[in-house]
Amino acid sequence: MQGFAGKVAVVTGAGSGIGRALAVELARAGAQLAISDVDTEGLAQTEQRLTALGVRVKADRLDVTEREVFIGYADEVKDHFGKVNQIYNNAGIAFSGDVEVSEFKDIERVMDVDFWGVVNGTKAFLPHLIASGDGHVINISSLFGLLSMPGQAAYNAAKFAVRGFTEALHQEMAIAKHPVKVTTVHPGGIKTAIARNATTVEGVDHAAMADFFDRRLASTSAEEAARVILDGVSKNRARVLIGNDARALDLLVRLTGSRYQRLFSFVIPRFGPR
Ligand SMILES: NC(=O)c1ccc[n+]([C@@H]2O[C@H](COP(=O)([O-])OP(=O)(O)OC[C@H]3O[C@@H](n4cnc5c(N)ncnc54)[C@H](O)[C@@H]3O)[C@@H](O)[C@H]2O)c1
Repeated sequence: MQGFAGKVAVVTGAGSGIGRALAVELARAGAQLAISDVDTEGLAQTEQRLTALGVRVKADRLDVTEREVFIGYADEVKDHFGKVNQIYNNAGIAFSGDVEVSEFKDIERVMDVDFWGVVNGTKAFLPHLIASGDGHVINISSLFGLLSMPGQAAYNAAKFAVRGFTEALHQEMAIAKHPVKVTTVHPGGIKTAIARNATTVEGVDHAAMADFFDRRLASTSAEEAARVILDGVSKNRARVLIGNDARALDLLVRLTGSRYQRLFSFVIPRFGPR
């Protein structure tokens, strides 16, 4: 992968899944890495893999919802490496539950991690990315930031919000002529621990949901997802879709407009566990 050698890249949620795969691919491409996660065991495993590749790594426990800590962390990364070129705001959680039976706190938790975590990371690192003269913000939304699903209102809200925030930032950087590129990523089903790590409202069979996701919905490996993301980053794409599922459903929504909602409310209950 071209264009990453010597760059300093920050990856949140790097202790598992797409974050770990991104960190490994970036290291292979010659980047120096600042990786973080709340899961320190998973993070240590990622760190070992990066160290074995011979790159400079800074690994820290970081909860992306802790804004002041995140801002301090951005300064630390800059001081450690001397510059920061790229941030991959990747850390995220999933939650399933219909609005009617979801608690406010569950919806707020998803917004805190999946939306505010991205805002915190973007704002904390933006001054450093501008100062680098060659910056890039990469925010991980979802296929569920392009279309909504029953049972996914909280996750949909957070991922649509990431898309809106990131697409506005893209335009602002261009208008201000800042040397910062901006990419929004929309993965379809990726083979990671996300469904197993997810929470659900009471009454939903969590194990059955996770099993259904792992067997039927997760079609792309995390490694392939990371390669597609880095390819999009190197080509300065504003929007990156990952997987045939993401491409097909994005097309369906664009063709049907708001009518996809009627279609989904008929099809989804017949298709999988709820
Ligand atoms: N797997 C998919 O099918 C899929 C699809 C679309 C979007 N995504 C998005 O991709 C991103 C990565 O997810 P993944 O599939 O690799 O899941 P994953 O569960 O394997 O990894 C997510 C990582 O984020 C970390 N994390 C969770 N809360 C955190 C917090 N508050 N602060 C810091 N780290 C935290 C977890 O500890 C974990 O290591 C997420 O934003 C997710 O929403 C995933």
